[in-house]
Amino acid sequence: MNNRKVYISGEIVPEVDAKISIFDSAVLLGDTVTESTRTFNFKPFKLDEHLERLYKSFKLTRIDPQMTIEEMKKVSLELLEINKDNYKTNEDCWLVHNISRGHSITGGNPALQVSKPTVMIYTQPMNLVLWAPFYTKGCHAVTPPTRMVPSQSLDARIKNRSRLFYTLAEIEAKLVDPDAQSVILDIHGNVAENKGGNIFMIKDGKLITPTTANCLEGLTRNSTMEIARSLDIEVIEAVIQSYDLATSDEMFITSTPYSIMPATKFNGMPIADGNVGPVTKKLIQGWSDRVGVDIIKQAEDQLHKH
Ligand SMILES: Cc1ncc(COP(=O)(O)O)c(C=O)c1O
Repeated sequence: MNNRKVYISGEIVPEVDAKISIFDSAVLLGDTVTESTRTFNFKPFKLDEHLERLYKSFKLTRIDPQMTIEEMKKVSLELLEINKDNYKTNEDCWLVHNISRGHSITGGNPALQVSKPTVMIYTQPMNLVLWAPFYTKGCHAVTPPTRMVPSQSLDARIKNRSRLFYTLAEIEAKLVDPDAQSVILDIHGNVAENKGGNIFMIKDGKLITPTTANCLEGLTRNSTMEIARSLDIEVIEAVIQSYDLATSDEMFITSTPYSIMPATKFNGMPIADGNVGPVTKKLIQGWSDRVGVDIIKQAEDQLHKH
């Protein structure tokens, strides 16, 4: 995407001109909060909710973005518009926000923000190829040995870029099966989340998901619960363990890019009969109706182009 423009700390510039210091706290400390929004029909979905979550992350990390939420929204929409011509009709994109505390002084006082924050915003094609096959065949969900950083250390609701443990967990899951998707447990053995998504199961027609005591309050998680309620499906937030997933009727993961990714195998065992179940299918249809895009078709069309 050589004519992509990005936003960096007050300016919209060609991506090649967007530079950050090797002393930035993003690099030195992973001291960065983040949001990833996607478009449907090239309109950002739930941008206000993403920005509200971003500003909660600023509050908890004490990063001062030196921009109001309205300014952040304005420049985000402007960037989307400027980059629009890079995308064909029917193509969607990510709108990603990464904001660090700025310059970091080795041995300095981290309570002091000594420079302007580094505000980085970019768009990126919505590549669904890796996930596309899972809508119909389901993925293999695997619990890796790496556990969640406990929320007592870093609240999982703060969406941040300190992602080494998520990365290790996902690599470990893929050692078991190259197509596996992680189901990360917390230090008590309770199901927490995927490295970039929330975990759901269906039991006796009810939709069950972990509470946000140990996972991000995913916006796709929230939308999926709203869609389920609108379809008269009971929703329960509960503490669940691997046993519950292994004996569930259906299972899936939710995240911004793919909305719902069915899982049909858990740690090598089929879930129920090993096929994508009827409630999951209903919820995927509910998503397509809600966003005005056939989400399975959009992903499969990309697969056929490759
Ligand atoms: C750790 C983690 N959990 C869950 C999610 C899903 O959140 P959302 O539905 O808002 O994309 C993400 C999204 O990137 C994530 O990074």
